Amino acid sequence: MKLRIFMMGLMAATFACTAFAQQPIVIKFSHVVATDTPKGKGAEFFKQKAEELTKGRVKIEVYPNSTLYKDKEEMEALQLGAVQMLAPSLAKFGPLGVKEFELFDLPFIFDNYQELHKVTTGPVGKSLLKKLESKGILGLAYWDNGFKVMSANKPLRMPEDFKGLKMRIQSSNVLEAQMRALGALPQKMAFSEVYQALQTGVVDGTENPPSNLYTQKMHEVQKYVTLSDHGYLGYAVIVNKKFWESLPADIRQQLETAMEQATRYANQIAKVENDQALEAVRKSGKSEIITLTPEQKKAWKKALVKVHEQMADRIGKDLIESVYKETGFDPKKL
Ligand code: LMR
Repeated sequence: MKLRIFMMGLMAATFACTAFAQQPIVIKFSHVVATDTPKGKGAEFFKQKAEELTKGRVKIEVYPNSTLYKDKEEMEALQLGAVQMLAPSLAKFGPLGVKEFELFDLPFIFDNYQELHKVTTGPVGKSLLKKLESKGILGLAYWDNGFKVMSANKPLRMPEDFKGLKMRIQSSNVLEAQMRALGALPQKMAFSEVYQALQTGVVDGTENPPSNLYTQKMHEVQKYVTLSDHGYLGYAVIVNKKFWESLPADIRQQLETAMEQATRYANQIAKVENDQALEAVRKSGKSEIITLTPEQKKAWKKALVKVHEQMADRIGKDLIESVYKETGFDPKKL
């Protein structure tokens, strides 16, 4: 009898162990944009690859559109370990205390994706990700979105047109300085609140790449969209350091491979996604799309380049200089 009980206990324990071993490791990946965007698609691609490569030992739960957390909360949740993975825009690392990331917000610092990639794939990009470690965060990759448009209910052709407009921005002091340089009143606000704020007139306008503008339907509550390409918006994919380092080595390796593939994919589709979103805004007929003349663009650059100098103390003069060197940017040539 004793032996039978012992055997049954052993069987139950073996079963429990097997069941436990089969429980997949769950990674919650929270983000604030729609699934149908460069970041949203990148996250879905990563999920698929990660689950495939780990043969189901890892389950990635993607929570898009701020369904789990808004901008500020998701950063806190990552540090507390309530979620394991995020991809906040580079403009959102200031409140975390890593304000150097705001260099990506400097107006007109990158002319195109190629220039930007020189920085993100080079020593500057790597050193910035390293700075996150003291916050309990590991930076795995940079993902592109694109170059920003400005929108409002009045045409924005010249810097003067911004005078007195309340413009929603992300939580970046560089973006704050940018809007002030244009004579606007910057309002920091979570992404999930922007549509309603525009609709109700809490703010008058905003900036974002077309993919975000279109998928949040902002163009339906903004009469004009200016193709200004005045700044870049992209992401750092980040994980909770303690969690990541506690993963079995083989799993971590497979996830890193999945991340490399997802990064290549996300960066490949970013431009096309934005071009298509802009086309969809145009087709909707809800907002008029304004293309700046070379003179108007020059006036924007002239008004905004001073932000680089204004923000040098915050970001670091040397860091800005090293980006100039990498991209060939010369503020005097604007
Ligand atoms: C915003 O808050 O405007 C965007 O950066 C959101 C995002 O993650 O693209």
